[in-house]
Amino acid sequence: MHAHGLTIRTYASPLAAARALAGHICQAITNDPGLTLGLPTGRTPIPLYDALTSRFERGGVDFSRASTFNLDEFLGIPASDPRSYRAFMERHLFSRVNLSRRRIHFLDGTAADPDAECARYEQRIVRAGGLDLLILGLGTNGHIGFNEPGPTLKAVTHRTRLTASTRRSNAELFGNRPTDVPREALSMGVGTILRARRIILLATGASKAHAVRRLVFGPVTTQLPASLLQLHRSAEVWVDRAAGAELSGTAA
Ligand code: GLP
Repeated sequence: MHAHGLTIRTYASPLAAARALAGHICQAITNDPGLTLGLPTGRTPIPLYDALTSRFERGGVDFSRASTFNLDEFLGIPASDPRSYRAFMERHLFSRVNLSRRRIHFLDGTAADPDAECARYEQRIVRAGGLDLLILGLGTNGHIGFNEPGPTLKAVTHRTRLTASTRRSNAELFGNRPTDVPREALSMGVGTILRARRIILLATGASKAHAVRRLVFGPVTTQLPASLLQLHRSAEVWVDRAAGAELSGTAA
């Protein structure tokens, strides 16, 4: 299905969507072994990282020349802390496949000068030639990376305040205590995201259905950062049936 410039693919289950996306990523790496990937964290991509790991274990993909850039990281949380996004990625993907350590790129949440760290990261993406394929998750409030809804958005990688709802949805990493979730984070900006050559947003589960409908059919608005994907020439939205449940209507 195509709507507002977006290609929508619907799968029977979260697992089916994850497996299809793993197959797609592996094919992209086979076609271009030096592929530069952008990667998300969250509950949604866990089955994707498991599926990528299975394909790697079966000999179906070689990650050794690919590069990765993760979307975001909590401010003040070191990579060595199990609650960091970096540690999450180590657990779910980096320690399980043959990505080259020096081609894994991450924002450092403990950098002495967070603004300089954001500028370094943005430049590093430019020097890598930009992101070839960026995988995104979706916040229930329509955020992408840590670009939260608001009157304005930042184009480049930046330091940002997290909303109460985002801190609640990230509480699982912090012993289910939302108040322990950092108040700030570092994130790619919407310009960093939109400059990726291809984007695939993966959303599964009923809690995402409303945000998916608004992102696909709603106006382009900073109040729903994912709606900016309508401006991209090659953005796709991959959903399971539950997340796609509100796509049969036409108005948001
Ligand atoms: C976090 C991340 C986002 C992610 C979102 C959705 O806030 N910063 O990049 O897409 O959570 O997470 P989940 O997949 O757990 O619903």
